[in-house]
Order: sequence, then structure tokens, then C-alpha cells
Amino acid sequence: MTSDKRPRVFVARIIPDEGLQPIIAQTDADVWQDELPPTRDELLRRVEGVDGLLTMLTERVDDELLDRAGPQLRVVSNYAVGYDNIEVPACTRRGVAVGNTAGVLTETTADAAFALLMAAARRIPEAYDYVRQDRWKTWGPMMFLGPDVHHATLGIVGFGRIGREIAKRARGFDMQVLYYDVMVAPPEEEARLGARRAPLEDVLAQSDFITLHVNLTPETHHMMNRETFARMKRSAVLVNASRGPVVDPDALYDALNQGVIAAAALDVTEPEPMPGNHKLLSLPNCLVVPHIASASFATRGKMASIAAQNLVAGIRQEPLPSFVNPDAYARRVTA
Ligand code: DGY
Repeated sequence: MTSDKRPRVFVARIIPDEGLQPIIAQTDADVWQDELPPTRDELLRRVEGVDGLLTMLTERVDDELLDRAGPQLRVVSNYAVGYDNIEVPACTRRGVAVGNTAGVLTETTADAAFALLMAAARRIPEAYDYVRQDRWKTWGPMMFLGPDVHHATLGIVGFGRIGREIAKRARGFDMQVLYYDVMVAPPEEEARLGARRAPLEDVLAQSDFITLHVNLTPETHHMMNRETFARMKRSAVLVNASRGPVVDPDALYDALNQGVIAAAALDVTEPEPMPGNHKLLSLPNCLVVPHIASASFATRGKMASIAAQNLVAGIRQEPLPSFVNPDAYARRVTA
């Protein structure tokens, strides 16, 4: 930026240099230095008078925050593909552009979801604990048996970018792939991925593995609940790398504890973070990791870069490379 007065931005966490350096070079940046997010009060103080905001999924962007920021705020750039932490209509009404990091984390997240599926199926964390506890005394014909992944049926719930990458991986394991999505994928895409669309009840009933890749919306909130678990096979394994509240945690606990389903592997939880004494963590058949599906060096760098580009573009009122609400600019002009 060339004007003397550089735009003010608040960056809610230290992000990789691929994004942080361009932001520091082009703006007057206040970068939150702690590993933990700012408290709500601190966040509200820091956003006052800024032109741009770079948020994580831990920062709630709503009317209260937008009011505190002020009418000069032009852009909220979220360092995530999901943006359920942002009230997009509230931003759009004010002409505030919202950006996300779509596209750059697809394959990395699919890799991680597949790793969770494999780990839960083959009971890797349980077996590792067993060794670490010095309980490994011999080779055992009945030790840590689990279901095969190869040739099993995989149900993908949410067939967007990440869901389709999962289907690609499943082909390598000769899996049958069913998917459920409100949108129908084009026939050539289904053929390329070897995936067949089916009603949710059928996907639940027929799959050996169910993996969730939906956005969190009022429709998907607790879509995995007592009723949906009861429709699944007793041998089924559930993977969630979407958003925690897509799964009802109490219903999941009962389903795992009572053998309604066999196992679960969660990258995301409700609540998040999940406290170490949460009842789900007492179950040997529930694997939980701390929301790390996009956590590869390269992908986090790409996320930082696109988040920085979104931020700078928004301040300049240019189209964002990954634009959630392109109609926001029209609002600003006509307001
Ligand atoms: C996202 O991008 O939405 C993930 O949950 C974090 O990478």
C-alpha cells in the first residue's frame, strides 16, 4: 500500500510467515502473540477502528463485534475454510467482505480424515497404549482385531471438495463409495470417483465407515444423533473432520458405550476444546485429536498466504481470491 496512512488490521494469532510477512509489510498490524485466543473483551477492544480483521475459527464475528469495530471495517478474513464463527449476513449488510481459505486445504484434510478412519478401524491408538503400558507379552491371534478397510463400504456425508478427495483415496482401497449430499454431483464426477449418491438413511444403513464433511448449519447441527446412530451398522466406524456440533456428543457416548456403533474418530468435537476429563475420552473406542486435519506445514502456509491476500484485497475493495460474500461490495456502494 502506498498511502502514508497504512490501514490498521488486527490479526488474531501468529500465522505462518507466508501470510504474516505480507500483512506486516503492507499494513499497520496488531498481531495477537499468545497461543490462546484473546478473550472476548480483549478482542472487542482490539478491533476498535480497524480496517481489516484476520480471524481464526475461535473468534466469533457478530453484530456486537462489527459495531465495536466501526463502519470503516472493510474485511474479515477467516483463517479456515469453514466460517460458522462468522455471521455472514451481518457482514454483508454492512458491506464487510468475508474471505475464507477454500481450496488450499482440501487434500490435506482428506488425508487426515482417512488417517483417522484407518487408525480407528485398526485400533492403532489402543494398540500403541498397550505397548506403552508394557502389556505386550506375546503375539496374540485374538489381539486388537478390527474390520478391514479394503473392500468395505464407505459413506461420505457431504460431497464437496473434501468429501470428493476422500472418495479418491477410497478407490485405492477398493472401497464401495456411497455419498449423501443435498446437491447431486455431475454423472461424470460420480463416474470418475466411483461414487453413488443415495438417501441418507441408505448411506447410514449400508456403510461400514461413515465420514462427515458437511458445513455446520442449523440443518446439520446434531445430524448424527440417537436416531441416526441407530440406523448405522453395529460394526460401523464414524469419522468427523467437519465441525464438532454436527455430532451429538451424548448420543455418541451412548452409541459407543452400548455397542450401537463400533468406534469413532473425531478431529472436531463439541465442546471444543474437549476437556481431558470428558466422558468420550474414557472410551477405548473413541479416538480424539485436537482439530488438526489441515495441519501440514505446506497447507498452513498456503492458508496464511490466501488469508493475507483476502485481507489486503478486502481493504482495497478488490475481489477476494476466496470470497464468501461477493454481494457485500454492492451493499457498500448502494448503502
Ligand atoms: C477449516 O479450515 O475450516 C478447518 O477446520 C481448520 O483448518
